[in-house]
Amino acid sequence: ILKPLLSLMITILLLVIPLRHETEPHFGYILCCTESSDYLWVPRSQLSAKCHGLEKATITQANTPVGTKLVYDGEKKRTLQVNPEIFSTFFKGHPFPNKTWHTCVVVGNGGILANSSCGKMIDSAEFVIRCNLPPLSNEYEKHVGINTDLVTANPSILMEKFGALMGRRRKFVESLRSYGDSLLLLPAFSFGHNTPVSLRAFYTLEDFKSPVRPIFFNPGYLHNLALFWRSQGLRTIRLSTGIIMTSLALELCDNVQLYGFWPFDFHPYSFQTLTNHYYDDRKTKTKFHAMPDEFNHLLRLHSQGVLKLHLGHCK
Ligand code: CDP
Repeated sequence: ILKPLLSLMITILLLVIPLRHETEPHFGYILCCTESSDYLWVPRSQLSAKCHGLEKATITQANTPVGTKLVYDGEKKRTLQVNPEIFSTFFKGHPFPNKTWHTCVVVGNGGILANSSCGKMIDSAEFVIRCNLPPLSNEYEKHVGINTDLVTANPSILMEKFGALMGRRRKFVESLRSYGDSLLLLPAFSFGHNTPVSLRAFYTLEDFKSPVRPIFFNPGYLHNLALFWRSQGLRTIRLSTGIIMTSLALELCDNVQLYGFWPFDFHPYSFQTLTNHYYDDRKTKTKFHAMPDEFNHLLRLHSQGVLKLHLGHCK
């Protein structure tokens, strides 16, 4: 009980101090951020030097030829040698064509987004990243927006919601309509059981001619990213999707804005109780993830001006 309480207290303290320096009222409740470009490049260049997200975050036919031995990042003893059939499912070309975006938004799924009216702000970004196939129906659009350029899918969702894609698959394809032609990023080579269901997702989208473009996380990138965050003092069994996508965004984008990141039960301003997600109250598996600790790291990056954390209501 003490650890989360302590974490929450530190967080609130850290939040209250920078709030006094809020610089851009246009964004609503953005916390302070320094304009110092000295700070801006330190974590970004470290990330690029250690993780090479631009070239290596995802598996492509160019960076993973037939014969490559993939080492699963969640099960170090498991490997897979790429054969022509698996190779044919790898992304052709480059998912992030040699450019960086001006502004990217990473949308976490926190309950803090409910009734936030942040939909327009989120949609105004050049590149929008969402986590774990979140619902984007009319009832949420005003608060979370609708645009998506990249969305992740944890295979556990495919197992639970779509019967591991073993039976009829139309429902899965139809559920992806709201993501348009975005990239669908799957951790196919993190754990052994992720691979067959991720391949079935790929074949399903191909067979149904879905505009959604499936692509796989590179396990080497996820491994390096875990080492990077450990070297920053973050102790966790698995990084959460949110911090993985934030790290990638820091390499891909000049300005990184975060919405829906608040892994606490109370709203930071109104103190009203919050659900864990903006769409349900399913709890995070604290056995694997250390979201409050991750949040403290994000908050530090925010106060250094490396990214912007948005909490509260948008105007
Ligand atoms: O699969 P995972 O548990 O990582 O994430 P999720 O519950 O689907 O939410 C996506 C991301 O939003 C998480 O990985 C967190 O980074 C963030 N999140 C948060 O900051 N606060 C919450 N209450 C819920 C999610």
